[in-house]
Amino acid sequence: MPTLQIDGQSVTVEDGINLIQAAERLGIEIPHYCYHPGLSIAGNCRMCLVEIEKSPKLQIACNTIAGEGAVVHTQNARVKHARAAVLEFLLINHPIDCPICDQAGECKLQDYYMDYDGQESRFALEDKVRKHKARDIGPLIMLDQERCILCTRCTRFLEEVTGTGELGVFERGDHCAIDLFPDRRLDNRYSGNVADICPVGALTNKDFRFRARVWYLDHTPSVCTTCATGCNIDIHHRRGEVFRFRPRHNPDVNQYWMCDEGRLSYKRVQGEGRLLQPVVRDSGGWAVRTWADARAQVVGRIRDALATHGPGSVAGIVSAQATNEEIFLFDRLLRAGLGGALGALSWSPADATFDDFLIDADKNPNSAGLRTLTSGTTDLATLLAQAREGAVRVLLLLRADLAAPFGSEMLDALGETVGCVVVLDTHFGATAEIADVLLPIATFAETDGTFINRAGRVQRVRESVPPPAQVRPGWQALSELLADVRGSAVPIDASAVFSELAADHVPFRHLSYSRLGEQGQRLDPGTDGR
Ligand code: SF4
Ligand code: SF4
Ligand code: FES
Repeated sequence: MPTLQIDGQSVTVEDGINLIQAAERLGIEIPHYCYHPGLSIAGNCRMCLVEIEKSPKLQIACNTIAGEGAVVHTQNARVKHARAAVLEFLLINHPIDCPICDQAGECKLQDYYMDYDGQESRFALEDKVRKHKARDIGPLIMLDQERCILCTRCTRFLEEVTGTGELGVFERGDHCAIDLFPDRRLDNRYSGNVADICPVGALTNKDFRFRARVWYLDHTPSVCTTCATGCNIDIHHRRGEVFRFRPRHNPDVNQYWMCDEGRLSYKRVQGEGRLLQPVVRDSGGWAVRTWADARAQVVGRIRDALATHGPGSVAGIVSAQATNEEIFLFDRLLRAGLGGALGALSWSPADATFDDFLIDADKNPNSAGLRTLTSGTTDLATLLAQAREGAVRVLLLLRADLAAPFGSEMLDALGETVGCVVVLDTHFGATAEIADVLLPIATFAETDGTFINRAGRVQRVRESVPPPAQVRPGWQALSELLADVRGSAVPIDASAVFSELAADHVPFRHLSYSRLGEQGQRLDPGTDGR
């Protein structure tokens, strides 16, 4: 634990961290391009030069370990002069692209020029070295060689993280350029990360380019729900529209990265196929209803079934797409409230992609939560067999798409034999087609809740955008159904539901929304549901 001085302030830091990180502890920014905490040190951009007393020359902070007794200056005239000189050098051949560059607003060349340079170029426009612009180098990535400052973050990522090595540095001197190796495309499963780490507008994301100016976007911390890893993300949104997902650092889950499939999954949370209003099937077909009417229909059918056929006539199936809060309330409604049977569904395609890094073959965000919260539930095959035989009169499906795992024949059979199918879901699909009551609930980008990832880490999702007007968060829809059935009070928010869950389930007892924070917490050791 060395103690050193940076700009006159004393700081004690962990062993082995560099001067950029040590300065961060004091809130001091040392500008840098090539340094990235998730990659090896290259030390090529020289933007991080600082003065260390007793060292005759300026030193690069990224490759200097914070040492006991060091006295470091990051703001003196010598350092400022060096920074301005480095920026002038980096900008010699840089194109005048800022007005049309989609990196504007998150470009470190723009930011550092304004903070540390501000001088006019001494280099004539016509003397700039021309390179390739707007080259489509992969399904997700566009390359502009002229904007590149040759920091090699991208090549190091492709060598050290994915091990795929599609990009390299070619030529010499001011003709140096980043390019694809012959006959290669940048098409690995994590390619989008290179656009995140490129500090300038040389590598941009084709899916996001020119769709929004980044300074208008708000960010909400969340987690990806496309597989069981639960990579931490920020949801970038504006005026109720989600524009992109970007990875958020969590050393216990995804470090700094996410896969392309998860990155593009933002498209599924809004758009086509959304269920937008409660709908009830009557003799004339489907009819739009208010929430109160639709709930009254559900409760009436449940009461009829219980009165005529007894407790076994009501059943529910919840999938590992549901949040812990929803699973908890659904279980309370089905088993404690109605004495019915509960089935748990965690299904992924047999040919689901996976690797030994982040991508998991389990394509559900909450299989561990489902296991933890639904012990003692009815075997799903048995429950479905009973339903096919006509023993189930009311079947509630919570985010449970039965079409993919069981096929259309099973759905048709359920549609025939079950008196009333109630579907609580986000999108219309084959399962929704057999519904007698459709209750539209929020996507994970529109609701507060928690998931448990494959390593037993409880992580929060947050309402980043409001759900459409007639769509309710799942926890609210279920709480209102519970209130109708049992007369219980409706919790004020998802956090209150989580508190009840934590009081009921031992593995969660030490947890609350505030304790989960932005990085999540593990369940009690040994109780992660595996
Ligand atoms: S393309 Fe971007 S990340 Fe790659 S070397 Fe150039 S500036 Fe760095
Ligand atoms: S690895 Fe899984 S959780 Fe991570 S971004 Fe990809 S799909 Fe999402
Ligand atoms: S960040 Fe230190 S040399 Fe580039």
